[in-house]
Amino acid sequence: MRRLAPGRLVLATHNAGKAREFAALLAPHGLEVVSAASLGLPEPEETGETFAANAALKALAAARASGLPALADDSGLEVAALGGAPGVRTADWAMLPGGGRDYGAAMARIAREDASAERRCAFVAVLALAWPDGHVEHAKGHCEGHWVAPPRGTLGFGYDPMFVPDGEARSFGEMAPEEKARFSHRARAFAALAARLP
Ligand code: IMP
Repeated sequence: MRRLAPGRLVLATHNAGKAREFAALLAPHGLEVVSAASLGLPEPEETGETFAANAALKALAAARASGLPALADDSGLEVAALGGAPGVRTADWAMLPGGGRDYGAAMARIAREDASAERRCAFVAVLALAWPDGHVEHAKGHCEGHWVAPPRGTLGFGYDPMFVPDGEARSFGEMAPEEKARFSHRARAFAALAARLP
């Protein structure tokens, strides 16, 4: 296991919702966090077939381009009755032909296609911490739950308003960021990565 030295860390995401959650998770570690956007780094195409491959691809691209260690997340929603879809295609399900994103339409598609009574699904996040020499450390987090329709709440981002974690009555869209962080796939993956951080 390789540990990260104190200093600058590139947050290799162009997703504002993820960036907010990582800023809170990284705050206690005393790193100087810089965003990929502020360094003018391009957003690489996610050509991998797994969360781990896409997370590594994003972190390595940022680490090599900046000469600094970089942290990336690839995440998504796996719906049990849909064989784990949309999975690595979760962002694509919200993509509009013109280039924008419509999460309302993506959530409605899940509600239309999943005819099961249980509505089981899980959020999954795989983190990749990469160094400019090509070394990568991975960590994974899961959050099990079920989906609700219509979506509930206006907090969070992406598919949060349709996801209710096990043991809770509220959706992630109805939870303040620190409450979501008690359950979330991203917070759990981050906890698994924390041994590598200063
Ligand atoms: P990617 O990791 O950039 O490929 O995209 C992840 C996709 O999953 C995006 O569409 C996100 O909106 C969605 N997603 C990942 N994590 C969360 C979350 O914590 N809440 C809601 N949606 C999420």
